[in-house]
Amino acid sequence: MKDKDKRKPWGGRFMEGTDRLVEAFNTSIPFDRRLFRHDIRGSIAHARALAKAGIIGKGETRKIIRGLTEIEREIEAGEFTFSDDMEDIHMAVEGRLIEKIGHAGGKLHTGRSRNDQVALDMRLYLREEIEGIEALITDLQLALLDVAENHTEAVLPGYTHLQRAQPVLLAHHLLAYYEALKRDNGRFADCMKRLNRMPLGAGALGGCPYPIDRDSVAKELGFKGVTANSMDSVSDRDFCIEFCGAASILMVHLSRLSEELVVWSSQEFAFVELSDAFSTGSSIMPQKKNPDVPELVRGKTGRVYGNLMALLTVMKALPLAYNKDMQEDKEPLFDTVDTVKGCLAVLAPMLKTMKINSGRMLEATRDGFLTATDAADYLVKRGVPFREAHHITGQAVAYCIREGKGLEDLSLEEWRRFSNRFGEDIKEVVSVYSSLKSRDTEGGTAPRRVKAGLRAARRELDRMKPASGGNLSTKDRQAGGRRK
Ligand code: ARG
Repeated sequence: MKDKDKRKPWGGRFMEGTDRLVEAFNTSIPFDRRLFRHDIRGSIAHARALAKAGIIGKGETRKIIRGLTEIEREIEAGEFTFSDDMEDIHMAVEGRLIEKIGHAGGKLHTGRSRNDQVALDMRLYLREEIEGIEALITDLQLALLDVAENHTEAVLPGYTHLQRAQPVLLAHHLLAYYEALKRDNGRFADCMKRLNRMPLGAGALGGCPYPIDRDSVAKELGFKGVTANSMDSVSDRDFCIEFCGAASILMVHLSRLSEELVVWSSQEFAFVELSDAFSTGSSIMPQKKNPDVPELVRGKTGRVYGNLMALLTVMKALPLAYNKDMQEDKEPLFDTVDTVKGCLAVLAPMLKTMKINSGRMLEATRDGFLTATDAADYLVKRGVPFREAHHITGQAVAYCIREGKGLEDLSLEEWRRFSNRFGEDIKEVVSVYSSLKSRDTEGGTAPRRVKAGLRAARRELDRMKPASGGNLSTKDRQAGGRRK
């Protein structure tokens, strides 16, 4: 047996070295090395717990902590050599610790298994990433709010079936995404509640035979408490699945927003124009300006859903407790984290630098009888049952189509051909502005309701932690001002 095989933690039991193929197949170092900080942080807390329980001496503890801190620096500086025979990040760090400080390093793994160790690392890692993602979501909400606040007058058709339906304020449309993102942040916060429990002390599966104080480890590592059942502690990857579920729903929203931006920046719509900095050109067609960024966000949604499915499938029907299958949790999780962060980070500045063509938006509301519902509601207010009012207005629309007119072009005389309940004021009622103003229920697109929505959103965001840029609206920034 080679030296490197004798050095393996299980070297005692084995007569033969690991096959080269198995080493390459088994290793998780290429991806789980990103957990090194969390692994070291967890190990330091564990060393302190061992010391507190009188299992290792004070001097040994100091040596271990110093060694681990140095290893962290070595990895950060790129001076650490990762090799496949160390299997995973946990063994790589421990192996290096023993190499550096000898005997004392061999005591670190007392009362701990890689099973509870990896469960801890994953929780520490994801906790940090969730905080970052929440802040990025807040940034995107801020960007939406900035655009909305800077274009409070802009009106565009609201669509159903991608057919022009009723006029709405652009700010109202953007606040719809604001709400969806707020729910996303709520889902991540909810995932965090269950994730934020400390699993160390579960050992391999049955618990730890040393009197380590799990609560103080939890406290030191900033957890809200400890996990309740040792077998569940090492078997549970719900938090990864929940995270990927929340990420998938977030991507539903980002993909819908992206789709709209792709459509809106087409020549057919021309409602918006993405800035050059957030667009790309064609290698052959000189005239092209392509919305690659929202297209890619839309496309990347696929991998985030795929990762969720991968995780669910890996975990399906696994017997308790730890199984090596679970090493396959990392790549889908890490890819989800990276993808979601990348999408959020690029969308916010893209929105802020995008040009809004409110003239085109308004023009689109003129065509397509968007205020037909308002004409029907007019009749309802004059005692006509809604079904009948719908029919009468439908006839007026058909007439307009035949005559090549809009509802706003009809004279009172023309309106009266369909119902004698129409009065002079119908002309005002079918104007875009009056239609907007009439939708005055809470949460409706009436300008005063939308203003209230904008104010509420601004108040909410003032309490949130954005990832960058501070909580300043474009207006404040232009004024060089500061919001608290
Ligand atoms: N690399 C492993 C993983 O990611 C760590 C846990 C290994 N435990 C074990 N008993 N082999 O799941």
